[in-house]
Amino acid sequence: MKGIFITFEGIEGSGKSTQVRLLVDALHKLNLPYLTTREPGGTVISEAIRSILLNPQFQEMKPETELLLYCASRSQHTGELILPALQAGKIVICDRYFDSTYAYQGAARDLDENLIDTLTSFATYGRIPDITFLIDLPVSVGLGRIQDRQLDRLELENTAFHERVRKQFLSIANKCPSRYYVLNGLEEPEAIHNNIISALQPLIGE
Ligand code: TMP
Repeated sequence: MKGIFITFEGIEGSGKSTQVRLLVDALHKLNLPYLTTREPGGTVISEAIRSILLNPQFQEMKPETELLLYCASRSQHTGELILPALQAGKIVICDRYFDSTYAYQGAARDLDENLIDTLTSFATYGRIPDITFLIDLPVSVGLGRIQDRQLDRLELENTAFHERVRKQFLSIANKCPSRYYVLNGLEEPEAIHNNIISALQPLIGE
């Protein structure tokens, strides 16, 4: 058994967390073994790195440092939690994974994609998600949804930054159609969830 690796991607306010919750409820009802986790984070060390990455006071953080910290968080998370869970045959649901690095550090921070390729295969031990759900919606809608929250360091970036993130996610989805499933984030959560369940049917066999 090798498990199933499912990731969710999208801009801020896209509704990923809601969809992760709805999917977990569905898997629970089906009595399927699963693990739900997030990036950056998921383990004690990776959550500690998360708190550095998202701290709004760390405005002086260099893009290079940011990239390395996301990858450091990922290597610990993947090695300690994700790979063993997959090995145990679980369905692993991860809120963000390496596509976020290509979108935020690659496109939005303009860091070298070849370098990200190298760091990504190193930090993931070469494991690629089996299916990735991109919840796409206009930046104005996503940012509008989170405006009442305490914003983290990345969420505080301007609209042009988030537009580059959105564009890059769509471009990756175009390049990897066999792995990617693009959902319309403007639809009702239940409708999006039903599409996710349909897309997963061949993988979970229910
Ligand atoms: P979250 O708000 O979805 O929990 O994600 C935390 C933030 O980290 C979000 O603004 C996206 C950002 N991020 C990156 O910039 N690069 C990455 O590789 C990951 C996983 C997240």
